[in-house]
Amino acid sequence: MEDKIRVLLTEEEVDRRINEIAEKISADYKGQSIHLICILKGGVFFTCELAKRLTVPVSIDFMSVSSYGSGTESSGVVRIVKDLDEPLDGKNVLIVEDIIDSGRTLSYLLELLNKRNPASIRLCTLLDKPERRVKKQVQVDYTCFAIPDEFVVGYGLDYDQKYRNLPYIGVVEV
Ligand code: IMP
Ligand code: MG
Repeated sequence: MEDKIRVLLTEEEVDRRINEIAEKISADYKGQSIHLICILKGGVFFTCELAKRLTVPVSIDFMSVSSYGSGTESSGVVRIVKDLDEPLDGKNVLIVEDIIDSGRTLSYLLELLNKRNPASIRLCTLLDKPERRVKKQVQVDYTCFAIPDEFVVGYGLDYDQKYRNLPYIGVVEV
């Protein structure tokens, strides 16, 4: 059965916005290097597109977490499925996420990663659903798009592991 998907953000719109954000990040970190932390699996498409456009030196590491929860609600109890390969001491860490919803996953991650002595930690997300935020203290430094409270897929985001490979952001119509 094929789901019907309505386009929310076209490939061109996403592409243009990533160019802008990459330019801003490159300017903010001028003279420094950035250690990108890609949150698997959803963050992988955005991380690659962003990394290609950064003009400061970049290193990349990956982390995979799973958030216990029922249905579409994350619980904030996060299990590390794959930890980082490299230590964070003295690095300018930029966490790259696909989407920030309740903020529970990131709130947990920030606390954990802050204990590893990075020089700085900032957050960059492709999408943000500000209406859904439960963890108000989670500050997002770079947001490509704030979107309404709808379940989206594509550009790394999945519905039951499907649609991550769509080159645009869409809403699954029910
Ligand atoms: P949070 O802990 O509630 O902020 O959950 C964030 C995670 O929930 C993201 O990394 C996604 O994996 C997932 N998520 C939240 N909203 C959506 C959506 O609209 N589509 C696909 N995944 C989503
Ligand atoms: Mg997911």
